Amino acid sequence: MNDGAVNKTRRTLLAGVGGISVAGISGCFGGSSDNGSTLVAPPQDSPTKPPITEVPEEPISPEPPEVNESIFPSDGTHPPRGIHASFVEDPYTSRTLTWFTDGHDEPQSFIRYTQDESLVDKWGSGQALPQNMEVSEPSDTFGVEVRTHRVTLRALDPNRSLFYQVGSDVGGWSGIHTLKPIPEESWRFVHFGDHGTTPNAQKVHDELLRHPADLCLIAGDLSYADGNQPVWDTWFDQNEPYLSSHVMLAAAGNHENKDGSFKSSAGAFKSRLSHPQPGISVTASNPGSTFYSFDVGRVHFLVSSAGAVIEDFSLPEELINMEVDLSKAAIRRLAGEIDFIVILQHYPIWTDQEGRSPANFTLVSLQEQILVRYGVDLLLVGHDHVYQRSAPMAYGFRNPIGYMQVMAGTGGVSVRLFDDNGFQRWSESEFVGIGFVTYDVEPGVIRGNFWGAAPVGLDNESRQIVNEDFEIRDSFEVKKRSLASIKSAAVMPRDPKILLKDYSMIAYHTKLRNHRDEHGC
Ligand SMILES: [Fe+2]
Ligand SMILES: [Fe+2]
Repeated sequence: MNDGAVNKTRRTLLAGVGGISVAGISGCFGGSSDNGSTLVAPPQDSPTKPPITEVPEEPISPEPPEVNESIFPSDGTHPPRGIHASFVEDPYTSRTLTWFTDGHDEPQSFIRYTQDESLVDKWGSGQALPQNMEVSEPSDTFGVEVRTHRVTLRALDPNRSLFYQVGSDVGGWSGIHTLKPIPEESWRFVHFGDHGTTPNAQKVHDELLRHPADLCLIAGDLSYADGNQPVWDTWFDQNEPYLSSHVMLAAAGNHENKDGSFKSSAGAFKSRLSHPQPGISVTASNPGSTFYSFDVGRVHFLVSSAGAVIEDFSLPEELINMEVDLSKAAIRRLAGEIDFIVILQHYPIWTDQEGRSPANFTLVSLQEQILVRYGVDLLLVGHDHVYQRSAPMAYGFRNPIGYMQVMAGTGGVSVRLFDDNGFQRWSESEFVGIGFVTYDVEPGVIRGNFWGAAPVGLDNESRQIVNEDFEIRDSFEVKKRSLASIKSAAVMPRDPKILLKDYSMIAYHTKLRNHRDEHGC
């Protein structure tokens, strides 16, 4: 339970109530128009009976604006917290806001919002203004006495910012947050994984605020709650400044799989996040889907669990979905609808991190043939707590029609090292430290920059201390494929029987890998 107190002086802010009251102003014959102008009827004996005419309203002294006594934001019995934004439907005309309240007896909770920027200053000062309201859908949160609230706003103006706050008069209101619109042609997304709640993780959060982006992709291992559910609340609370003002979508990692088992595997991830295609899994349908796809502009994104939550039995259907989804995307790319195909997941396929080099062979057999078949352009991953970027590659060799893997498990939970065997032939950039990658999407090209900060030393202790500023440590470009490459990737999906013919071995090796990771990061 929270310790907020009810503000007894709070007055209800009515949606759609203007600042100037006209209710008490009467025109001639007791009538008044909606806009305050007064209608005057002609005398009854007028021979010509001219039509009713509108005359200017007499200047009146407007009543002072109705000032709401509550302070914005306001405390209450159940203050909203952990506010984060995503989209589960159209990325331009919809936004989904998700937040938490403590306990199970929360009052009805709302979002109130406007896209009229001119109203926001007055709103912030507590004046009653026209605005829209929607009621939230509360649901239980995995493993803790917390309620998760969700609202999806639809039919938004895709060219204007969204200003919103969540809560209720009894429970308390959040501050007013802003979500900027996503530009259609030139826009930016960011990617990192392996975040946690450490001081370094908060440094990454603070630096993210200095690099506004239209979409944040987290490649798994978000909170490192590892079954201790209140850590999820800490993570959401720590990151609210960024997550309430940027759309974020995530992939599940091995640490998400430590919350629950079997059908409730990754229970916190599934119950606290809001992702597209929540009903895509027949066996593990949930709001925070562990595999889903969406387009932003001319980029198609597919988010994969990479087998991290195999215990919920959804991997076979995810693999079939991946095959069909990427086939459709490759055909749409040939048709000119999109330019790029990007996959986000936790596990890398290839790596030089100490102890994990040279590859995750489960994923080589599980996924790599699918990525290469459909001409995936970028594979964004985490899991290994270093930064490493490949040249375009396939099966461990540089290949101009392969995919580029960008590994950024540099969210700050810990800093690791590369092994002593030298970098593999596909590797093009490496960095030890913390940071994230920005991707600037322009017509026909994606330009990436890794913003990193190095630790004070490389021994086990000093490697976890980062004091220096973030700088660009790697820059790269991914250009739209040649027409020949686009054509060769536009092929039909394979029969599920062919795709899953070795599933028992894939499952066996995936479970072995997951078991091995259970005590690692
Ligand atoms: Fe991991
Ligand atoms: Fe990790």
